[in-house]
Amino acid sequence: MTAPLDQSKVTAPLKHVRKPLAHDSAEMHVTGTAPYIDDLTEAVGTLHVVPGWERSAVRGKISSIDLTDVSASDGVVAVLTSEDIPGTNDCSSGFGDDPVLANGEILFYGQVVFAVVAETRDQARKAALKAKIEVAPIPPILTQEDAEAAETMVLPDYQFRRGSPETGMTAAEEVLSGSFRIGGQEHFYLEGQIAMAVPQEAGGMLVHTSTQHPTEVQHTVAKVLGVPDALVTAEVRRMGGGFGGKESQANQWASLAVLAAHATGRACKVRLDRDDDMIMTGKRHDFRVDWTIGHDGTGKIRAVDMEFLARCGYSVDLSLGVNDRTLFHADSSYFYPDAAIRSRRLKTDTCSNTAFRGFGGPQGMLAAERMIDAIAIKTGRDPLDIRKLNFYDGERNLTPYGMPVEEYAVMHDLIAQLEENSDYWSRRDDVRDFNAVNAVLKKGLALTPVKFGISFTLKHLNQAGALVHLYTDGSVHLNHGGTEMGQGLYQKVAQVVAEEFGVTLDKVRITATNTSKVPNTGPTAASSGTDLNAMAAKLAAQEIKGRLISFLCEQHQCGPEAIHFGDNKVIIGDQSYALAEVAKQAHMARIQMSHAGFYATPGITWDRESVTGRPFFYFAFGGACAEVTIDTMTGEMTVDRVDILHDVGHSLNPAIDLGQIEGGFVQGMGWLTTEELVWDEKGRLRTHAPSTYKIPTASDIPEEFNVSLYNGNGNPQDTVYRSKAVGEPPVMLANAVFCAINDAVASIAPGQIPNLDAPATPEAIMKAVRDVRSRKVFA
Ligand code: MTE
Ligand code: MOS
Repeated sequence: MTAPLDQSKVTAPLKHVRKPLAHDSAEMHVTGTAPYIDDLTEAVGTLHVVPGWERSAVRGKISSIDLTDVSASDGVVAVLTSEDIPGTNDCSSGFGDDPVLANGEILFYGQVVFAVVAETRDQARKAALKAKIEVAPIPPILTQEDAEAAETMVLPDYQFRRGSPETGMTAAEEVLSGSFRIGGQEHFYLEGQIAMAVPQEAGGMLVHTSTQHPTEVQHTVAKVLGVPDALVTAEVRRMGGGFGGKESQANQWASLAVLAAHATGRACKVRLDRDDDMIMTGKRHDFRVDWTIGHDGTGKIRAVDMEFLARCGYSVDLSLGVNDRTLFHADSSYFYPDAAIRSRRLKTDTCSNTAFRGFGGPQGMLAAERMIDAIAIKTGRDPLDIRKLNFYDGERNLTPYGMPVEEYAVMHDLIAQLEENSDYWSRRDDVRDFNAVNAVLKKGLALTPVKFGISFTLKHLNQAGALVHLYTDGSVHLNHGGTEMGQGLYQKVAQVVAEEFGVTLDKVRITATNTSKVPNTGPTAASSGTDLNAMAAKLAAQEIKGRLISFLCEQHQCGPEAIHFGDNKVIIGDQSYALAEVAKQAHMARIQMSHAGFYATPGITWDRESVTGRPFFYFAFGGACAEVTIDTMTGEMTVDRVDILHDVGHSLNPAIDLGQIEGGFVQGMGWLTTEELVWDEKGRLRTHAPSTYKIPTASDIPEEFNVSLYNGNGNPQDTVYRSKAVGEPPVMLANAVFCAINDAVASIAPGQIPNLDAPATPEAIMKAVRDVRSRKVFA
């Protein structure tokens, strides 16, 4: 599988690739001049759409709807219900179970029942509150336990199984088991969900949409309108963050904008109020994990049995891929000789959970780290020793789903370097000393690994297209199917194209993702945006360049080796020509200087049905060492120091990659420490604004924060300039913070496994502290 490393690619003098260049929009971002959808000039007569919903209802049959007062309200132009949908009332990504507007029943708290279209947003918001909706309540199924009892699932159970975990457990010297909860996470993108639809001639529709998946928005709104896909164009220049929350969940708002535009013949914009956004859209899946692990006297794992109970919400959404990825990462970086890893996809009457950075992987990995910590506590050995003892290696390198971990040596080397650079062992002593003399404050330390599989586990999504034009003045138009959500994809692809043409970056015009330029794309997700789109764009540029080279060879009677592109010039033997000049000549000779590139990831053979084959092109690795202090009187926690070493292969852009690593880590830390979603006993989300939902801010960044890129041999697979994906893996570096908190709590009562759930909020830490204290055995 592993392609030999092409040394020429590694050592060639590169002008743009591998340089720490700023994000293409960095200056516009910080000066507030980067246009997001709400900044686009509105067409004359643009109307505003606000979703209407029934605040008293969680689940039930709608017995009556009276919208008279809504229609009569100031500025209202139209009020839409499911009856006004000309096509199909569904905005799901394939399972047909996500109504755009409620269809006779309320499925969860926050379901959209109708839409108000008014001259201004304020008028629409006021009008939306005037509806009279009666609902005959049905007792809702809210928790994993409710759903298990009622046997409600969005999808059938699924599992990985190897060997005989039953026999393994019997053979193990020690068997530990436990159950813990992992909370969900609100995306909290700074730019909320938004779409603006502009009617075009002859029934056409242009929709500006803040989505990671323009093709799906295009196809969804066409289906909702009941028109061919070709009548709809979806465009997105940038999102103010997506984080997975705009992979499938942008569909509904684009559909409402388009329905309103269709009904009124005017441009219509939907911009969700923040509270509505938090209540109505899906989040990271929350889990209960029941685990049993058998190990020998040294802490070496013999067998595992894990069950992941996911709260999926009222519909399937992306729960198939998300929960599969949980299973794919339930090994973290550890070899399980015998394993049963099960997934239950529970259906609850809550918002439909969806993609969130890591796509289920973080939950799987955290469960593995939890088991490792339990073994360490019970054997009295250091958790890092237990981790290393169980790492994949040359012999024990088969994952529970049958793919080998070929790069186990990278993992070992990276962790060894981090262990040294972070001074792990001397700080372990310091932490022990600190805890021995401090009764109230307790410190904890943890060093945890990351191994994240790169590729969509749904094989067909691993493809991308790009459209590149070379103009006769030597400038380049760049377009591809990937979307920009702040992660720097556009910049990286532009660097690759500039490199290929030998032009300066100012010659490459980055343009908005648009379904009429590059069709039938997958979502920008699974961290594979650059791997896929940069490759497609590179192939397109190579093709155009190849045509120029053939033309020049003939003109100059030379071989292709005599021709070089660089600094906006073409060097032919000892002659130098401006690229513009060459492009003009090629145009006069009627040579096509536009090409649509296409790339499909090779070597992926995963077959979900038979649980065989290779799901991932490769793995990205990383490691983090975190030190925390908890206050056992108040539950307060501070992250004192974090050291990170992360593997991005040969970085395409070290500045952007470091930004992704820092941002991903901090977002993961928020998930595991402060971001708590609370639904009340009636099923209503109570944490629907920044006043009650705490995301990390600049002041939550660790006091000491050392982040480095792993300096290795690059990606062994033939990815673009041997780089590796970086978007999601860093989230899981934050597991170190959770494990360090657990370590601090465990120091209170040696030998006792803390009952610590995620997020480890001050409240959760207090509870865990009290609980271990009550179990403390006095020698
Ligand atoms: N970085 C920023 N700034 N904003 C985002 O919304 N999304 C993350 C990650 N990094 C995100 C981000 C997620 S969930 C994914 S899958 C990847 O970026 C997607 O982009 P990529 O494939 O180009 O890395
Ligand atoms: Mo990212 S969760 O794959 O959009």
